[in-house]
Amino acid sequence: MKFAQQTKTKELSISTEPTRIAVLISGSGSNLQALIDATVDGFIPASIELVISNKPGVKGLERAAAAGISTGVICHQDYSSRESFDETLVQYLSDCRPDLIILAGFMRILTPVFITAFHGRLLNIHPSLLPKYPGLHTHRRALEAGDSEAGATVHFVTDELDGGPPIVQARVPIMAEDDEQSLAQRVLQVEHKIYPLAARWFCEGRLRLGKEGAALDDAKLPAQGIDYQA
Ligand code: GRF
Repeated sequence: MKFAQQTKTKELSISTEPTRIAVLISGSGSNLQALIDATVDGFIPASIELVISNKPGVKGLERAAAAGISTGVICHQDYSSRESFDETLVQYLSDCRPDLIILAGFMRILTPVFITAFHGRLLNIHPSLLPKYPGLHTHRRALEAGDSEAGATVHFVTDELDGGPPIVQARVPIMAEDDEQSLAQRVLQVEHKIYPLAARWFCEGRLRLGKEGAALDDAKLPAQGIDYQA
């Protein structure tokens, strides 16, 4: 009887702990800011426990510190291989016990060392309408191709670069006068809407990565994710 009571108390204390998020960045951190704001105002039922950058001195670190979030810098140049960098990242993150890890402008290619360790709880945002334009310079490529629209996609991370199952996608028009910068700004505005939304679904326990791909409320998501309507 005594043992049963102790077990119950432990279960209760675990279930009331808020969902823990860690965010990886490399730069400005405007998506990080959107996520911070969404946790502070309760849109995402979770707390951001840790922000790690692979570059020192970036604005995203200032944003995290201003919000009272612990920060860390792990410089990829200090490591002789991608795998050894990823091993350190895994160790650092594991100490923080994250339920969800969000890549928000994290400009490093991750190896299976990292991706396997956090399979199913790793999200990325990519500034294109995937499967179009994986990799770099997405806005330049959309402009050069004469596309009439661009956008962003939140997806689960798998071993395939920018190729994990999409969750939600938002479109923006491309204007005749657009250059890379103006298009990037327009796309960022929708990134700041769809990333908190996907994080919210995950933290509510509604979003999962299964063998069949991404599922929301146990329903398999479309191949390009949910089409976000502002
Ligand atoms: C965003 O466009 C994101 O899609 C891409 O990198 C950029 C990061 O911007 N992966 P920020 O640092 O969140 O402002």
